[in-house]
Amino acid sequence: MVKLSGRNKIPTSVFISGTGTNLKNLIKFSLLRNSPISINFVVSNNINAKGLIFAKKYKINTKVFDYKNKFRAESLILKYLKKNKIKLICLAGFMKILSKTFIKKFKGKIINIHPSLLPKYKGLNTHYRVIKNKEKFSGCTVHFVNSSLDAGKIILQKKVKISKKDNPISLAKKILKQEHVLYPKAIFKISSNL
Ligand code: GRF
Repeated sequence: MVKLSGRNKIPTSVFISGTGTNLKNLIKFSLLRNSPISINFVVSNNINAKGLIFAKKYKINTKVFDYKNKFRAESLILKYLKKNKIKLICLAGFMKILSKTFIKKFKGKIINIHPSLLPKYKGLNTHYRVIKNKEKFSGCTVHFVNSSLDAGKIILQKKVKISKKDNPISLAKKILKQEHVLYPKAIFKISSNL
C-alpha cells in the first residue's frame, strides 16, 4: 500500500448537521498514515451539532453556515472550500439538500452515506420504514451525490440482518456501527480516481 504523508493526502471537507459519529470516525481514519484523505474543514448548518466539538478538539477548521438563505449559504461554503483547497466532500448526516449548481461545481467529488440498502428506502426515517415493512435485511450505502436524492452511483454497501427484536433505534445503532467501517473503505476505493 502506498504511504501518504500529510501533504499529499486529499484535502477533504465533511458536512454535518448533528451528532457527528461518522465525522469522528473519519477524522480518526484520516489520521492513519495510509489514509488517502486529510480533513481540513468541517461544514455545518447547525450551531449545536455535537460533531463540531470533536472537530475543534482535533484543531480542524469549522464553520456554521446560516441556511435561511440557501443560495447565500452555498456560495459562502464554496468560497471556504476554495480557500481550504478542498478536493473531496463527505456528507455525514448533513440534513440540507445541495443545489444542482453546487453539485456541478464539485462533480464526482461529493459522496454521502445513507442508512439503507439503496435504491431502497431513500430519504428520511429509513429505519422506521424498514421495520414497518418487516424487512429481513437493511444496511448502509456510500454513494456519489448527484442531483437526485440518494440516487447517485453506489460505491459500496454493507448488508445488516434485522432480528425480530429490532426496533428503529436498535437497528439504527447496528447500522451506524457498520457505517463507520464502510465509509473509510469507500474512500479508499475511490481515492485513486479523485
Ligand atoms: C447516519 O446514519 C448517516 O447514514 C445518515 O445520518 C446519520 C448521521 O449520523 N446520513 P452521525 O451524525 O454521523 O452520527
